[in-house]
Amino acid sequence: LAVLSLWAVLGYLIGSIAFGLLLARVMNLGDLRAIGSGNIGATNVLRTGNKTAAALTLVLDGAKGAAAVLLARLFAGEDAAQVAGLAAMIGHCYPIWLKFKGGKGVATFLGVILALAWPAGLACCLAWLIGALVTRISSMGAIAAASTSTIFLVALGYGSAFFLGVILTLLIFWRHSENIKRIRAGTEPKIGAKKA
Ligand code: G3P
Repeated sequence: LAVLSLWAVLGYLIGSIAFGLLLARVMNLGDLRAIGSGNIGATNVLRTGNKTAAALTLVLDGAKGAAAVLLARLFAGEDAAQVAGLAAMIGHCYPIWLKFKGGKGVATFLGVILALAWPAGLACCLAWLIGALVTRISSMGAIAAASTSTIFLVALGYGSAFFLGVILTLLIFWRHSENIKRIRAGTEPKIGAKKA
């Protein structure tokens, strides 16, 4: 239990690095909290108009999720990998550095699933792409990926990650409650549009 707790803390700390905010600051893109949806993720970084910063945010927020899983697996095995992945997601969504007001966890979630079970991760990325390309709405990609993730995990032989998949799906839905309201109201902006 001590080992799992250690990886919970390490995973949380890794996940709590808000790359979107850091990049926006370093690249002088303004205050993400005052732009678009106010979120710290790649989708909102794109609303600053800087595609490079958005791509970097996506990759780095994903990489930190993957790093948490892979480091924990390397040093402490599969259970620790799952704990660290969940902790990284919680760190991203509720970082202590930002008074627990973090992101929505989509990039980090994709990184976690890719590192945990890459075939399911690839399937989730594909689900995100299809959801986002068909609707041109980023949060629809997130909803598509999250709602299919547990099915992919189980169907592709990673049934041991069933509960993790369910928790991550619920967390992503919870973090997208404002987006879901806007989708229902027909006011959710398309990818790259400057206003939310
Ligand atoms: O990854 C977050 C995305 O699904 C929605 O972002 O900024 O449109 O709320 P945003």
